[in-house]
Amino acid sequence: MFEKMKTVVRKNPAMEGMIYLIHNNLLPFVNFSGRSTEDKDVTESIEHIESVTGTYTSKLSGHGIEISNKTIIEVGPGDNLGVALKLLSLGAQKVICLDRFRCHRNETKVRAVYRELIEQMAPKERERASEAVLLTQDGYRFRSDKIEYIFGTEVERSLEILGREIADIILSNAVLEHVYNLEETFRNLVLLLKPGGYMYHGVDLRCHNRFRGKSELFFLTLPQWLWKLMGCNIGAPNRRRIGYYRGLFEKFKLTLISESVTLEADAEAVEKIYDHLDKEFEGTSREELKALAVGFVLQSESNQMAKM
Ligand SMILES: C[S@@+](CC[C@H](N)C(=O)[O-])C[C@H]1O[C@@H](n2cnc3c(N)ncnc32)[C@H](O)[C@@H]1O
Repeated sequence: MFEKMKTVVRKNPAMEGMIYLIHNNLLPFVNFSGRSTEDKDVTESIEHIESVTGTYTSKLSGHGIEISNKTIIEVGPGDNLGVALKLLSLGAQKVICLDRFRCHRNETKVRAVYRELIEQMAPKERERASEAVLLTQDGYRFRSDKIEYIFGTEVERSLEILGREIADIILSNAVLEHVYNLEETFRNLVLLLKPGGYMYHGVDLRCHNRFRGKSELFFLTLPQWLWKLMGCNIGAPNRRRIGYYRGLFEKFKLTLISESVTLEADAEAVEKIYDHLDKEFEGTSREELKALAVGFVLQSESNQMAKM
């Protein structure tokens, strides 16, 4: 029924826009953020956790960056902390999970996911993960020196809560595109990181289904003020393109170790909107507009940690 309604609405952009305006301005507390595993069963949820962890570890180890004994911040973990458990199982010292929302979750399923995730691990990994979480009869509890879960705090204000130079590595997946003040975000992240520390951010530059009925890049044609009015309170994408991120890295003296575009729109999709782009995207090249998903590996200024 809900899916049917969504299909109808997506065929009518004016109605779709009106719904976003009402949701963002009158009902922002109705929040669907971070429900990455909501529609997934235990097996599929574990696949998602393994996939996100696999991306993090392969992107880092590809540049000789190890997670063993490191303090890691995961920004925006979503509706479970399975990735943190996996990182601990692989030898991380501590994982701090920081989220703007305490995303809606089914705790019974989350417990089952943790149980199964740990069950499937090799003995050494299982031992480390089991140290971090206590599975009780009907729930679970994390050991706070292993997993710290801070929710209700935006990454833009994380420094106030966490303090300077506490992390060796900062990770995020599908989070930065939801953050409206990226400049403040990077100001905080750089200070949270120890000198020479590393970050990996996977950013989904797609429209998140907004006005997709028109075309996958149509959302870039709407005026910025209207776009914000339709989504800034409910975590709709900020529309920032790769060039904007590169500018921030330069501003905050972050070395871009690698940038990998993992998904691209075809030339036809870009051509369709190119002459109608909002002025926010003036000067953005066709090549840049093609990028729909990107991963950045970054290092903060000093090289102290790399020598350790
Ligand atoms: C699409 S979910 C991604 C969840 C998870 N990282 C994954 O890959 O499945 C986006 C997450 O970012 C969080 N988030 C959005 N804006 C944020 C902000 N300003 N500060 C911290 N977390 C934020 C949301 O609450 C949500 O948990």
